[in-house]
Amino acid sequence: MNDYVRIFDTTLRDGEQAPGCTMTLEEKLEVARQLARLNVDIIEAGFPAASPGDWAAVHEIAQQVGSADGPTIAALARANRDDIDKAWTAIQPAAKRRIHTFMSTSDIHLEHQFKKTRTEALHLIHDMVSYARSLCEDVEFSPMDAGRSDPAFLREAVSVAVAAGATTLNIPDTVGYQTPDEYGAMIRDLYEHVPGIQKCILSTHCHDDLGLAVANSLAGVRAGARQVECTINGIGERAGNASLEEVVMALHTRKQFYGLKTRVNTREIARSSRLVSSLTGVQVPPNKAIVGANAFAHESGIHQDGVLKYRQTYEIMSAETVGLEGNALVLGKHSGRHAFRKHVEALGHKLSEEDFRQVFARFKDLCDRKKTVDDRDLEALITGETRRAPEIYKLEHVQFTSGTGVTPAATVRMVGPEGRVITDSAHGTGPVDAVYQAINRVIQRPNELIEFSINAITEGLDAVAEVTVRIRERGAAEEDTAGKGRPPIFSGYGVNTDTIVAAAEAYMGALNKMLAARQERIKAEQAAYAAGYDKNATSYAVDMFGMSALGKAD
Ligand code: KIV
Ligand code: ZN
Repeated sequence: MNDYVRIFDTTLRDGEQAPGCTMTLEEKLEVARQLARLNVDIIEAGFPAASPGDWAAVHEIAQQVGSADGPTIAALARANRDDIDKAWTAIQPAAKRRIHTFMSTSDIHLEHQFKKTRTEALHLIHDMVSYARSLCEDVEFSPMDAGRSDPAFLREAVSVAVAAGATTLNIPDTVGYQTPDEYGAMIRDLYEHVPGIQKCILSTHCHDDLGLAVANSLAGVRAGARQVECTINGIGERAGNASLEEVVMALHTRKQFYGLKTRVNTREIARSSRLVSSLTGVQVPPNKAIVGANAFAHESGIHQDGVLKYRQTYEIMSAETVGLEGNALVLGKHSGRHAFRKHVEALGHKLSEEDFRQVFARFKDLCDRKKTVDDRDLEALITGETRRAPEIYKLEHVQFTSGTGVTPAATVRMVGPEGRVITDSAHGTGPVDAVYQAINRVIQRPNELIEFSINAITEGLDAVAEVTVRIRERGAAEEDTAGKGRPPIFSGYGVNTDTIVAAAEAYMGALNKMLAARQERIKAEQAAYAAGYDKNATSYAVDMFGMSALGKAD
């Protein structure tokens, strides 16, 4: 057993499946680039059979991020030929490729969802793993709901997958039901009883329904697993997956105990967390381990006293190790374009000329309004600028009045398609509501605001406000843009020292994304069909793991 644990990131697949975590192709690419900087071993880029858009995103990530010295690019496929073919064509451009196929092994799934006997399931596993292996030398098999499977049947299913050529055996606790002792024992049992498994990699995949995903993953590693499947900030189905930052930092901080290592560049953890949070609109709770705002804050007098005297009295790891400090911007109002560009590049961003021009202008503007500008402000400006959806409507001007005894009112001026300038006004229950009502009068696209959050990026009264909103297009469920059977949700992000302006920017971002989604969907479909994507091969538009296509493999 070696001492190296592979980190398999599934933020773009299991994470993106979570309600409201849908990302556009550009956003997925941005996350994939950041995961490459974080140095994860494998990126599960998506589920190509889910929709032509998912296929196109996996293909693009394989092309742009799957270099020879970069991560392996994996794609998920149900146990049928059409899914496997789509996964295989989508990951083609990557230098290192993996097909990840799965089939449930618990009686509850086989009986009620798949309508298959155990024997039929074993045949399917054999045939589909063999088929995947005939295409790709790196094949991962997951017995879904392993945690609730009969242990003897699980052994049998995993043995069949190993014999059929699977190179990684991933053991999911799909419903987050197990305890660390049980999960560790299950991995140990497979490790000891499945013939030939020692030449394969055993992997953990734990959900967090009981808050045990990280503990279970670590128990699996202790029992012999050498791959952990996890997501940034722990996003994923229902309560989420094991959080990458917690697993990695547990192995890192407690290396004496585990005697294991990962290749992750821990200094990229904080940035990865911020990026995923701002792209999905899913906030990180302040008390979240490793990446929460309070994770390294010492509030009580006794703790502060101890830390000032000797850091380790109350700190088991340093903020610098996860990339939270030590990066203060030394530029200011008088800095030139050249120095600014160098600093942006040192932070790992490659901006287009247009984005750079915009970010630089906003940086100068911010320097006028805020005493100290640091890297957190800069990251927020860059994220706000580069994440902007194509501006179908551009907010040129916003003005509002509000206060005690005044009915809040707002006026907006926007430039719409074909350069049309439209001005409108509205009243609201507060200044944000008034601005949003005025914007809605111009855009006239029914939507529902389902989340609104404000955060101060740095300390102080002059702090930059960061606003995240999430909206749902009314009546869009039937159209189901992502082909996943869920109404699409769009997030928007705005940063400004004026909170109301930041809120307006965030709303415009989400609305423009909503409008652009239709256009992007048409483009992605055209690209996928041009590359041979067969829309009739599977009924992908039913639900994420809709099993109607499974029969085709028989
Ligand atoms: O939770 C699960 O079982 C999964 C599989 C598809 C690996 O996500
Ligand atoms: Zn999962």
